[in-house]
Amino acid sequence: MSVLSILVVEDDEGLQDLLRRLLSQDGRLVTVVGSGQEAIRVAQEIPVHVLMTDLKLPDIDGLTVLERILQIDSKVIGIVMTGYGSIDCAVKAMKAGAFDFLTKPFDNEVVVGSINRALEAYRRRKNMQSSQKAVRERYRLEQFVGTSEPIRRVFEFVEKVADCDSTVLIQGESGTGKELVARMLHFNSVRKDRPLIPVNCGAIPENLLESELFGHEKGAFTGAAHMRIGRFELAHGGTIFLDEIGELSLGLQVKLLRVLQERSFERVGGTKTIDVDVRVVAATNQDLEVAVQQKRFRGDLYYRLNVIPVTIPPLRERRSDIPQLVSHFLEKLNRGKQAAMTGCSPDAMARLLEHHWPGNIRELENMIERLVVLSLSGTIEVSDLPERLQCRSVTAEQTASNFISFSDQGVNLPREIEQFENRLIVGALRQANGVTSKAALLLHVNRTTLVEKMKRKGFASKSQGCPIF
Ligand SMILES: Nc1ncnc2c1ncn2[C@@H]1O[C@H](COP(=O)(O)OP(=O)(O)OP(=O)(O)O)[C@@H](O)[C@H]1O
Ligand SMILES: [Mg+2]
Repeated sequence: MSVLSILVVEDDEGLQDLLRRLLSQDGRLVTVVGSGQEAIRVAQEIPVHVLMTDLKLPDIDGLTVLERILQIDSKVIGIVMTGYGSIDCAVKAMKAGAFDFLTKPFDNEVVVGSINRALEAYRRRKNMQSSQKAVRERYRLEQFVGTSEPIRRVFEFVEKVADCDSTVLIQGESGTGKELVARMLHFNSVRKDRPLIPVNCGAIPENLLESELFGHEKGAFTGAAHMRIGRFELAHGGTIFLDEIGELSLGLQVKLLRVLQERSFERVGGTKTIDVDVRVVAATNQDLEVAVQQKRFRGDLYYRLNVIPVTIPPLRERRSDIPQLVSHFLEKLNRGKQAAMTGCSPDAMARLLEHHWPGNIRELENMIERLVVLSLSGTIEVSDLPERLQCRSVTAEQTASNFISFSDQGVNLPREIEQFENRLIVGALRQANGVTSKAALLLHVNRTTLVEKMKRKGFASKSQGCPIF
């Protein structure tokens, strides 16, 4: 069974320390918070198996916390603690779904005994209901589709480095699968039963990001009514995924550098140093080396992050994965639908293979989703594709009239040329039934030149099994 995770909700600092010490045995993950709202937030982010909550909290009462957390996961076992041990309270707690009720002050053995019984009860509940979360996560790993050379290299990379604790920097254009790779790293590592905490550094306003990452003490700033634990603390024992790291302000870069160097930090407004054991995986679609040159990103932080770098190649450099990705998304998105799209016509597939895919896998996934939402059934035809994929490239279309007019956006010349070249190559390969020597003759180039181009563009040859040639 996975690591057991206990969430303690208690606002008395002395008791917080005592409970943390008592319960942190046998590799259990103990998260201590001081308010009800904070407990609910934590339970939304990390798996919680046993909730141990005080009845009287500074914001909402312990029974409401228990009820809300049971709504998040009905398997959670609740233990309610209170200084006012009346039969009435105990009955109310049991009605709210509590498993045990402890009256303060309590003996250490009573607490330990109660938590052991609760963990045993959790195991039984879990065995009864197969853990949907685990299934979902396994499923996610199987979602990484592709057999092209560049993708095989990414798989090998994940296998090699998943289990070491070094920091990984994932670079790649938008939509290439950086987050998927980060998840694969976590779920294939020894930390897989501990939390994976994502932080999108670009999406959280700068003034909130510091407390989001490191937490804050009660009264640290106006509005900080309760102590809040940050994402680094939540990720203790697991992995923190710092997405869009290139967006981090210079001020926060200094603070992050310290965590990477020392694995410790203070909450905002706090003096106590908190040590964490966290694996850091960062991702960006920016070229951080350029950002360093432009002084937007600190060089020392870049070197700390760039311990194990990996770049996820854009889809246009692994086009041979496109047919497999199309089938995968069709199957995933059609699931449970009556009228299903079952495949893609050779002509439409040729268009997909030629396209530049600036939005990478996400663009492909969104396109398929649109087709499925429109409830088209049968096979994807060229006419079903978005206009940008349907219309012939400007070069091909408009030379006939010897006149090219530009819209205000203009055209991207290298991209248009590349797309036209792709179209000629795909067309020649199809006519030559995938035989590269014949296609090369049609294109008036050497076979080696054609094969070289195909390799660079990520086209698989017939012998590698590309279905449409
Ligand atoms: N190899 C793959 N197989 C199947 N699905 C994939 C693959 N790579 C990416 N995806 C899917 O494509 C979408 C985009 O991937 P992801 O969010 O990981 O990209 P990203 O690089 O983090 O993008 P961004 O920079 O825009 O955040 C997701 O829905 C993801 O599941
Ligand atoms: Mg992403």
